[in-house]
Amino acid sequence: MATQFIRKMSTGAHLGQIQRVMILGGGSMGSGIAQVAAVKGNDVTIVDTDDKILSKSKAAIEKSLKRVAAKKFKGDSEKSDRFLAESLARITTDTDAVKAVKDADLVVEAIVENLEIKQLVYKKLDEEAPEKTIFASNTSSLSIQDLAKSTKREDRFGGLHFFNPVPVMKLVEVIKAPGTSQQTFDILFKWSESLGKTAVSCKDTPGFLVNRLLVPYMIEAVRLHERGHGSLQDIDTAMRLGCGYPMGPIELIDYVGVDICKAVTEVYQKAMPGNPLFDSSPSVDKLVEDGKLGIKTGEGFYKYGAKGQKL
Ligand code: 3HC
Repeated sequence: MATQFIRKMSTGAHLGQIQRVMILGGGSMGSGIAQVAAVKGNDVTIVDTDDKILSKSKAAIEKSLKRVAAKKFKGDSEKSDRFLAESLARITTDTDAVKAVKDADLVVEAIVENLEIKQLVYKKLDEEAPEKTIFASNTSSLSIQDLAKSTKREDRFGGLHFFNPVPVMKLVEVIKAPGTSQQTFDILFKWSESLGKTAVSCKDTPGFLVNRLLVPYMIEAVRLHERGHGSLQDIDTAMRLGCGYPMGPIELIDYVGVDICKAVTEVYQKAMPGNPLFDSSPSVDKLVEDGKLGIKTGEGFYKYGAKGQKL
């Protein structure tokens, strides 16, 4: 049972009862979070503005669940089919966020990395959500406090940063902003663990732990290429074979999204101006300008086929 009673709020409301989860944003991160939550018994509603996005999200979840089931139940088709059917049955989709938030214990937001848009959405949801509902952002780098300030529930607001592909990556960064109550942090931490993930505690600093290290590394790999010090392929091969990383840095940019990497770098530039570690890269800027955002658009630094395979 995913339901967890952790402790009572001073108001008497059961703040820790996380059963109904609303995922805002049906992209790859939102879909992945929805999937792992449903597998662990949560009732999940994925909300996005467009039915087409929601259909794509459900199709991606089904495909991913089949991969998980193939590994978990190795040839036992009855168990595998049951796992698939039960997990999918726990996921609904909706284009109406106001309706969906009415019975949510937890909202996990994974929409576009834009502070103003996120703040507008949070403000509206805050007016409509029950008092008990906890809000969490999956932002890659924006300040959780800046997001929380657009609501009247700073104490029930934190960060939950997952990694792509969510069903495979075992980490969740749990972010305690200055206004996040200890109760909320504990609930978010325990909920992350209930998904089978390892949770680490993070301060509300730009990029938290992983992206603060990872994104400058990836952009520096691009700069290495821009300086003519290595081909894209050689840089990737060097880091895969020299360091045992599953992907090279350039492949990883395409996997994560060139636009996401640019957005994260821009947050760093604002937060820590003048630090050359966060300089923009002309190649990254040009790819974003041309809409070549990586695997999701079929081209980034490399070109990809219909199934996302490198060409
Ligand atoms: N759903 C379910 N299972 C999946 C999956 C998915 N979407 N993607 C991969 N898998 C499983 C496969 O079934 C396979 O299982 P098996 O080993 O039992 O057969 C296993 O994962 C490995 O997959 P593949 O054989 O298809 O391919 P690879 O061995 O090349 O692994 C990868 C793919 C897991 C993506 C690996 O290359 C990897 O770990 N890459 C690095 C990913 C990474 O660094 N992510 C973090 C990015 S940063 C981020 O997300 C933060 C953001 O804010 C920017």
